[in-house]
Amino acid sequence: NGARTLSGELLDWYDHNARALPWRVGPAARAAGVRPDPYAVWLSEIMLQQTTVVAVKPYFEAFTRRWPTVADLAAAEDADVMAAWAGLGYYARARNLLKCARVVAAEHGGIFPADHAELLKLPGIGPYTAAAIASIAFDIPATVLDGNVERVMARLHDEHTPLPAAKPILMDHAARLTPDERPGDHAQAVMDLGATICTPKNPACGLCPWRTACAAWEAGTHRELPKKTPK
Ligand code: ADE
Repeated sequence: NGARTLSGELLDWYDHNARALPWRVGPAARAAGVRPDPYAVWLSEIMLQQTTVVAVKPYFEAFTRRWPTVADLAAAEDADVMAAWAGLGYYARARNLLKCARVVAAEHGGIFPADHAELLKLPGIGPYTAAAIASIAFDIPATVLDGNVERVMARLHDEHTPLPAAKPILMDHAARLTPDERPGDHAQAVMDLGATICTPKNPACGLCPWRTACAAWEAGTHRELPKKTPK
């Protein structure tokens, strides 16, 4: 069906164009079925919530060097974690990070639950982060919807309903495209597509694996989407 073809084309693109990021596994390991560490996925997703990939990288590397597992982080002194977080901003994230690490250590034996609903119960983990961990770390077909994915979906479907009203519609589109095979790579591929090709300004449509399926490209509206309700 159409969704499977679209996801397959995207995964082919991802296999050749995935960004090398410290919380990901490399292409060879990925091809061998190696999944990223749930702790690394969780930590990176929390750090990436209000911070760019470039700014997050050194912090992610420092945290995982100093606290290699969620149990190590759970046992850290609050002041040490807050000091290591300094510069990333939004310090509520760091406090929730520690709370979550301690719940995972105390109530889950130091193992992140491989279940979207269980992940959602953890401190600081909302629907986006739960879906990201479920799909990326555990290959559960959960759908992630962040700003990148919203833009890609708005353009692919030439959706003119303005954000935020469009969110449930775009979630629906994204969910229908989520494959049963390699849902974690699919999720990261849509995010990479939005970050590197389907950018807010000057999208590189000539390089896009979804160009021929893209309703906004067809209509010439890709530069205007997504629409936003003025604040
Ligand atoms: N932004 C947030 N999480 C991401 C991920 N896993 N890959 C790429 N961009 C992201």
